Amino acid sequence: MQLDVVTLFPEWFDWFRAQRHVANAMAGGHELRAFNPREHTPLSGGQVDDTPFGGGAGMVLRVDVMDAALRGVYGVDPVDLRKERRVLALTPGGRMLDDQFVDELAAEPAVTLLCGRYEGFDERIVQHFASDAVSIGRYVLSGGELAAMVVCDAVLRKLPGSLGHAESAAEESFSAALGGDPEYPHYTRPAEYRGWRVPEVLLSGHHEEIRRWRRARSRERGASAPGGSLP
Ligand code: 6GU
Repeated sequence: MQLDVVTLFPEWFDWFRAQRHVANAMAGGHELRAFNPREHTPLSGGQVDDTPFGGGAGMVLRVDVMDAALRGVYGVDPVDLRKERRVLALTPGGRMLDDQFVDELAAEPAVTLLCGRYEGFDERIVQHFASDAVSIGRYVLSGGELAAMVVCDAVLRKLPGSLGHAESAAEESFSAALGGDPEYPHYTRPAEYRGWRVPEVLLSGHHEEIRRWRRARSRERGASAPGGSLP
């Protein structure tokens, strides 16, 4: 899979790329590239953003700058780019990222993530260049970069050959195998610590009982967490 990020801070992704699980995915043939719109801006002095029409605080990433950046990277009109690959605009008002959305993205051969300036994008970027707008939660980050890393992390671990992929053959939080519920609790040695005992059933060796216990704990967690316990 080819994951591209368009960001004013491409160097942030050097750290992300250096993490073991991401490096493994790269070694396995996947790609994570970061491009800086500033290197493609048609404006003088490396300008990429501007004050919002109608007034208000902050700066907004310009549509002509994003047009030039995407054209520079892909050599096509960005209006057509989204017919070739998934182009996601990261914005707090977008579609909420969840396990199903991650699965959808992990099935794509190529995805481009557009990161806005602090106050975001000119809306025409979202309307005309993006195939989807994505949010990672109902709170505001200072830019799309951390959200883009969250998306990349969640997607990369689903890909064949990565750690999460091998595990997801079993049960993982929010997977269909767990009916969309969070994962059951895990325990390891010591079996007792400061008087805190590991649940006996896990030490029993009765696989069917363990399976039932885990499913029940998973359901409990789903029932007490918003968005859990799918029908
Ligand atoms: Cl995708 N971007 C920003 N700037 N803030 C967010 C977000 C994205 N998702 C949640 N908060």
